Amino acid sequence: MDYISALVLRFSLLLIVETAMAIDTINTTQSIRDGQTLISADGTYVLGYFNPGISKSRYLGIWFGVSVVTPVWVANREAPLNDSSGVLRLTEKGTLVLLNSSGNIIWSTNTSRSPARNPVAQLLDSGNLVVREAGMEQNNRNGLVVDILEVT
Ligand SMILES: *[C@@H]1O[C@H](CO)[C@@H](O)[C@H](O)[C@H]1NC(C)=O
Ligand SMILES: *[C@@H]1O[C@H](CO)[C@@H](O)[C@H](O)[C@H]1NC(C)=O
Ligand SMILES: *[C@@H]1O[C@H](CO)[C@@H](O)[C@H](O)[C@H]1NC(C)=O
Ligand SMILES: *[C@@H]1O[C@H](CO)[C@@H](O)[C@H](O)[C@H]1NC(C)=O
Repeated sequence: MDYISALVLRFSLLLIVETAMAIDTINTTQSIRDGQTLISADGTYVLGYFNPGISKSRYLGIWFGVSVVTPVWVANREAPLNDSSGVLRLTEKGTLVLLNSSGNIIWSTNTSRSPARNPVAQLLDSGNLVVREAGMEQNNRNGLVVDILEVT
């Protein structure tokens, strides 16, 4: 294999790995643990865990690009996690829940709308987190949006 082919192959592999790792959507069997992130399709917004300044408390939030310094939205502002064992899940009813290490719900969304049959949660390029029905149009104007967290 010549040098260029090797280079192209390496580059393609890199792309595949990166594509596989960056997800913007989770369903009810997936979760976001501390250290994992959701990244909006165009990479603009990131949902993940962080600790502000020297604080040891962990928060789930959404921030713009690489800057976690000023999150645009924080889920568990009132209930900081004491460690890195937070888990974000989507329930069958389309509710987002944040669990601490003993499995207690320390934060959740409460949707008044009727639950989706097969809900997924997606971080949009606008920075909003929506819960919608799987398989529906990605664009929240067309899909059945169960819940929108207006974070921007
Ligand atoms: C959730 O997504 C994963 C990965 O795409 C898939 O394997 C799994 O079957 C999905 N679960 C549901 C309930 O749709
Ligand atoms: C953090 O620890 C305190 C004291 O043990 C406890 O009361 C609180 O519920 C914990 N916070 C969370 C989010 O688990
Ligand atoms: C998890 O949260 C519950 C309710 O706030 C609290 O009682 C419990 O101590 C927390 N667990 C840990 C390990 O902090
Ligand atoms: C969730 O429901 C409670 C009780 O109806 C309400 O007080 C609270 O504002 C709601 N929270 C959100 C984020 O809508």
